[in-house]
Amino acid sequence: MTQKILLRTEGLQKTFRLHLQGGIQLPVLQDVELAVAAGEAVALTGPSGAGKSTLMRCLYGNYGADGGRVLVQHEGRMVDVANADPREVIEVRRTTLGYVSQFLRVIPRVSTLDIVAERLTGQGVPAAEARERARALLLRLNLPERLHGLPPATFSGGEQQRVNLARGFAPRYPVMLLDEPTASLDAGNRAVVIEMIREAKAAGAAIIGIFHDHEVRDAVCDRLFEVLPVSRQMAIA
Ligand SMILES: Nc1ncnc2c1ncn2[C@@H]1O[C@H](COP(=O)(O)OP(=O)(O)OP(=O)(O)O)[C@@H](O)[C@H]1O
Ligand SMILES: [Mg+2]
Repeated sequence: MTQKILLRTEGLQKTFRLHLQGGIQLPVLQDVELAVAAGEAVALTGPSGAGKSTLMRCLYGNYGADGGRVLVQHEGRMVDVANADPREVIEVRRTTLGYVSQFLRVIPRVSTLDIVAERLTGQGVPAAEARERARALLLRLNLPERLHGLPPATFSGGEQQRVNLARGFAPRYPVMLLDEPTASLDAGNRAVVIEMIREAKAAGAAIIGIFHDHEVRDAVCDRLFEVLPVSRQMAIA
């Protein structure tokens, strides 16, 4: 059975231009061809500085491409998030493309429960149901109820990472990007995250992740995709 491709890059290129250094160009991604199917998890590998995080940002539409495309299956068509209108990128992120960043960007004064529930109400889930689902997910990630009403600004690194995970996994996005999702977690919570990733795959999600934790990587990923460092031909623009 051939699985449906949910995310595909075609000839993706990204070059940083260092304007403060006389316009030096730093090519990072050259002709990246990655395709990830429904139900599949792919780990980005490669040495430090190779461009894994840069590729991830391109996949999320944070960076435009200098060449090529980043196609995401969104409501029955392929949207090129590297070249789409910003409003369309926001729409793709709302319902299709989830991203669990390594660190939580803390939103002042909003409670942990609301930070998670907002992702669901944003998709039309009624408020009471959204809060109940958020609560259950936070408890599954061992975040005690006494913390749910507080903003996560003062939480520990591992607690903040679990809020981030609950927020990323609450809506069941068809395509998920995970940047070091278990870096600050203990063994028990790592096991919960492994389970959650497996469930998302079983439900048909396509997952792309950076996992320095090889135990987690091997437990969830079907294959590796190596990001190769471009030989640093620095050219003055
Ligand atoms: N915004 C930027 N401006 C200029 N150069 C950048 C920028 N972001 C990344 N780079 C450069 O691009 C290259 C790739 O960086 P990137 O962060 O993608 O690597 P990585 O594979 O994620 O490394 P690590 O495993 O250490 O996280 C590095 O040489 C980095 O210095
Ligand atoms: Mg990185």
